Amino acid sequence: MTIDDRYRFLQSLSPRAGTYALDFWRRRAELVVELKGPQDFVSHADRAVEAMIRDEIARAFPGDAFLGEETANTIEGTPERVWIVDPIDGTHNFLRGIPYWNVSIAYAERGVRTLGAVCDPVAGAVYHGRRGGGAWRTDAAGETRLAATGATALPGSLICIGHSDRFPDPRYLALRSAFMDHEVAFRNFGCAALQLAHVAEGRYDAYVELELSSWDAMAGLLLVEEAGGYAAPFPGPQGLAVRAPVIASVGGIGPALHALVREQTGIA
Ligand code: IPD
Ligand code: CA
Ligand code: CA
Repeated sequence: MTIDDRYRFLQSLSPRAGTYALDFWRRRAELVVELKGPQDFVSHADRAVEAMIRDEIARAFPGDAFLGEETANTIEGTPERVWIVDPIDGTHNFLRGIPYWNVSIAYAERGVRTLGAVCDPVAGAVYHGRRGGGAWRTDAAGETRLAATGATALPGSLICIGHSDRFPDPRYLALRSAFMDHEVAFRNFGCAALQLAHVAEGRYDAYVELELSSWDAMAGLLLVEEAGGYAAPFPGPQGLAVRAPVIASVGGIGPALHALVREQTGIA
């Protein structure tokens, strides 16, 4: 089984997982919502979508490892081949009927993220990419190659700042204040992987979050890189169970943005 086989499989699995999740979304009033911690929600939908993805991967590639937010959120060492899954990213939006959530699936080989797909089922779009093969959006109109914007300066840019609602982190106040000083417009739509895909698509100029898990970050980071953007190194053995800062942007503002975030928050 080659990387081509896995990419084909991913392009088929991603929209099917998205459709499965969409069915739960349409019937979300029936879901029983549990609290994993403060502002940390989960429902049967998250677990069922992850189980579906996990079963399909195990059937198609029985030797591959699996890391998923809901059923397998730790992993030993650096497996040669590993799939990294967030079954529903943007769960809070999902549960409240806000149409901004996604299913995120990445694949890393020997510690290097290699494939990624972010499915936005409400929009009927799959963002997918392969290392060295570009990033693409597939929807009813066909396939479009993604290209990050050509922004070259922080003033005038539009940057998404994600932050976890689960714990206070005053570094975001310093960062927001610095963005105001630098004439940066900022937003947070509450869904890391889709915001990263939208950086790759050219909707936003960057995405910053000071602590993300690998299942939130891997697919979206690959899309940004393959769309010609800048991705700060995601520390630790790539693709494994780590939490780390994410700075991903169009190429032209990457170094300046990284320096500003470093200065304001103390991250590496
Ligand atoms: C969360 C979302 C949110 C981000 C959080 C993530 P979840 O993922 O992506 O936008 O700010 O850090 O944990 O819980 O919805 O899968
Ligand atoms: Ca997530
Ligand atoms: Ca999730």
